[in-house]
Amino acid sequence: MTQPLYEVRDVSKSYGSVIALSGVSLKIHAGEVIGLVGDNGAGKSTLVKVLSGAHQPSEGTVILEGTERKWNSPHDALVAGVETLYQDSGLAPHLSVSANVFLGRERYVKGLLGKLGFLAQKEMDRVAHENLDRVGIAVPQSNRSVSQLSGGQRQAVAIGRAVSWASKVIILDEPTNHLGARQAGEVLSVIKAAKERGLGVIFISHTLPHVLQVTDRIVVLRLGKIVADAPTSTFDAESLLGTITGLID
Ligand SMILES: Nc1ncnc2c1ncn2[C@@H]1O[C@H](COP(=O)(O)OP(=O)(O)OP(=O)(O)O)[C@@H](O)[C@H]1O
Ligand SMILES: [Mg+2]
Repeated sequence: MTQPLYEVRDVSKSYGSVIALSGVSLKIHAGEVIGLVGDNGAGKSTLVKVLSGAHQPSEGTVILEGTERKWNSPHDALVAGVETLYQDSGLAPHLSVSANVFLGRERYVKGLLGKLGFLAQKEMDRVAHENLDRVGIAVPQSNRSVSQLSGGQRQAVAIGRAVSWASKVIILDEPTNHLGARQAGEVLSVIKAAKERGLGVIFISHTLPHVLQVTDRIVVLRLGKIVADAPTSTFDAESLLGTITGLID
């Protein structure tokens, strides 16, 4: 077996007296789509926060390409190639599409004496459009304000931003929420395209048909523990639901 791209080993995370994750180990390989599922409160978003550098695990290790890493912030993980779309997407509604795509990564035109000058607005508009287009997301104009977009279009921008910057791993926490059937289908295509690019993808969703459709492997969390980790082909809708709820062990 090749070296995993990204891995957590024996990770636990408590919030005060609440144990959100307990002894969780997970490997993800390049070009692999993992479905992470479980009931509300199972610990999915907590695991995402550990993987994305937003939270440090109370115990256990995070390993990227064979090297143990300690993320002090999501920025650390991001620079290392791990990009995350959080459950609450975190777009800035008053800014334009391209400003959102470049949030925290703004480009500047060199000013006098090589000092940072103006924002390279035209360039960012163009590159934002190209990046969204490249990952298969059609947004009207990248200089439009995000507040003028529909919920689905906003979600598309957030996904496009994450997928276009990711160089190794992309984590999508419920990216198809609030989307219509067609847009949800587009998100699934974006996931497939990310896989083709050799990224490791972690896809979290309560919509089990989507998970069964797009993933290679499914990991089921229940009350902070992994209760199943198996190829998607070994599940059907019924057995997956049973594993999530605990009716099947
Ligand atoms: N910041 C926090 N402070 C205290 N407890 C928390 C915090 N975040 C999560 N928890 C608790 O940790 C557990 C796991 O929550 P988490 O958000 O990871 O679940 P989830 O699987 O993502 O659920 P959902 O499907 O509803 O998004 C829950 O019991 C939750 O109440
Ligand atoms: Mg969650």
